[in-house]
Amino acid sequence: MAGDGTVQLIDEKGKRLDGRNFDELRPISIKIGVLENADGSAEIRMGKNIIIAAVYGPRELHPKHRTLPDRALIQCFYRMSTFSVNDRKSPAPSRREKEISMVISNALTSVVFTEKYPRTTIDVYLQVLQADGGTRCASLTAASVALADAGIPMRGLIASVAGGLVNDKVVLDLYDIEDQKGSGDLPVGYCPVLDEISLVQLDGVFTLEQFEECLNLSIKGATEIYDIQKKALQDKYAAIRAEVSVDVKETEKKVKPKEEPKAEVKEKPKEPVKVAPKPEIKAKPKEEPKAEVKEEPKPEVKDKEEVK
Ligand code: CDP
Repeated sequence: MAGDGTVQLIDEKGKRLDGRNFDELRPISIKIGVLENADGSAEIRMGKNIIIAAVYGPRELHPKHRTLPDRALIQCFYRMSTFSVNDRKSPAPSRREKEISMVISNALTSVVFTEKYPRTTIDVYLQVLQADGGTRCASLTAASVALADAGIPMRGLIASVAGGLVNDKVVLDLYDIEDQKGSGDLPVGYCPVLDEISLVQLDGVFTLEQFEECLNLSIKGATEIYDIQKKALQDKYAAIRAEVSVDVKETEKKVKPKEEPKAEVKEKPKEPVKVAPKPEIKAKPKEEPKAEVKEEPKPEVKDKEEVK
């Protein structure tokens, strides 16, 4: 939704209307496991954007004819709540929502080991509760950690942010007014582990230099977001580990019976040990000397010649 770029969005000191520098991200927070009923979930707050991602699956796909024989299908459902923008948004899925669902699905398919789950679907629901520009990028970032939360094996996480052109200057992480009144928008999804770009779209007119500068700035921003994603996942598992260790300690306490004070055992006076009298061993009668067996002298064998 790029504008004509005539609205002044950067002051003479180079600061943007919300006070950020050209290469600065909005404040971002990510929470993992926010939904009880989903297999994996996440909530992202990026500036004023609030988006929930919920993952279900891998599970059976209906209608069956859509199943893929050699891999899982990743279906994304990006939806903006009717109350997420100033003018009430129609609840019917718009072409924009279908397009965003498709590009997010394609990006995720490039990093998930879909071949591990043939003939199934992995459903990713993305619900925008509050929109402030850059919702497709924030949704992709949240979807990626929600998939990890669901335990779905991935080659790497995707972090996403849009760079853009504002008053002919390349800036990072466009927010609503910049998205609408700026002259260019370049959403980028980047997987730092693979050093791969999994999503890139472009709206507006960029020179080649501006495009390269904007792409590099978006990759730098995505790398910062990746650290926040990792931290959110690590925090969740650290919390689980702490919870489990408390549980284990409590269970151990319950299972172990309290050691009762030992009853005093009075030692009985030792009775003199009776030694049984050893049975008398009678001396064996001496063996009688064996009669001497005299060997009879063998008859002398004379030489053959002598016999003759
Ligand atoms: O949100 P994103 O930048 O990824 O997508 P967009 O199509 O460029 O939309 C830019 C912004 O316009 C959204 O983030 C919303 O803040 C706003 N918008 C709106 O006010 N009403 C709509 N029906 C759609 C978008």
